[in-house]
Amino acid sequence: EKGGHDYFMLKEIAEQPRAVADTLRGRLTADGLVDLDLGGLDLRDVDKVYVVACGTAYHSGMVAKYAIEQWARVPCEIETASEFRYRDPILGPGTLVIAISQSGETMDTLMALRHAKEQGARVLAICNSHGSTIPRESDAVLYTHGGPEIAVASTKAFLTQLVAGYLAGLRLAQERATMDPAEVTRHLQAAPAQLTALLDTMDPVRKLARDLSAAPQVLFIGRHVGFPVALEGALKLKELAYMHAEGFAAGELKHGPIALIDDATPVICVVPSPGGVLHDKVVSNIQEVRARGARTIVIAEEGDEAVRPYADALIPVPPTPALLAPLMTTVPLQILACEIAAARGHDVDQPRNLAKSVTVE
Ligand code: M6R
Repeated sequence: EKGGHDYFMLKEIAEQPRAVADTLRGRLTADGLVDLDLGGLDLRDVDKVYVVACGTAYHSGMVAKYAIEQWARVPCEIETASEFRYRDPILGPGTLVIAISQSGETMDTLMALRHAKEQGARVLAICNSHGSTIPRESDAVLYTHGGPEIAVASTKAFLTQLVAGYLAGLRLAQERATMDPAEVTRHLQAAPAQLTALLDTMDPVRKLARDLSAAPQVLFIGRHVGFPVALEGALKLKELAYMHAEGFAAGELKHGPIALIDDATPVICVVPSPGGVLHDKVVSNIQEVRARGARTIVIAEEGDEAVRPYADALIPVPPTPALLAPLMTTVPLQILACEIAAARGHDVDQPRNLAKSVTVE
């Protein structure tokens, strides 16, 4: 049932090219536009978007925020679902609330969406489980076609949530004529093959995991959409390896967290595509942590030679447009967490204290 893999998590990581392809299937037209079946949900006159979600789904929502604002030029906030309704957010008929949930049964997310509906907002669900409560109570649903996810740690659901968030952002952009979606959709269509190629290069990451398994803590840094990837990498390590792990926006390091760095601390650095200003800033951050003794594990685009001198270990990923990079950069972090947890002797698929679906508030 694990398809020859040691854990469901590894099976589900390996399924990601298929899961991404299935989530795209039938949703792109021949000329690169986005064609979503949103039933009666009208996206015209949306003047504000809130994304609400928990855990890994929240991290996918952070990426969606960046994509929605950049492509559709509509203000978008991402909020932890458990906080949303308790601060009485300002919602109305022009508000679109996007609730992201793999299970469709997460109580915090469900309560946030019920609150949004009571306040007159439109609600779009991004969900993996057909017929679950969150899509049933939403105005429309964009299903992720990940297939059943058994491991408690979310992997393929995350990548497919990213894809669904991109599709929603492109659909909003199409509505508002703010960009040509074809510039992005042709890159989305390339992602499954790129993921297959990336998964074939993970042996050094497995070896690295064994080296890192005794570290007292692991820090993750990233910028732009690399920031949510850093948070996701740290969450995976916490939940599976029970290690202290933190993700930071790399620019925040100097405001406090850099005091955590010592020569026993590996820092995993998610580097933006070369060519942009943020790339150079992250390279500087890598130099800063290395100067303080950290061992740097650098995830960067193939051919990024500028990072090489500062990388104690370099994990290359296939090139993508900046906003799509999390589809690639997340994968080595999933493998690292899984293999570190296994090296520490933990139950990878059933970590302590956690449930696959959290149905209490
Ligand atoms: O089913 P959901 O997507 O609503 O679940 C949300 C979180 O509970 C979930 O992503 C959790 O953080 C995962 N265990 C992370 O791997």
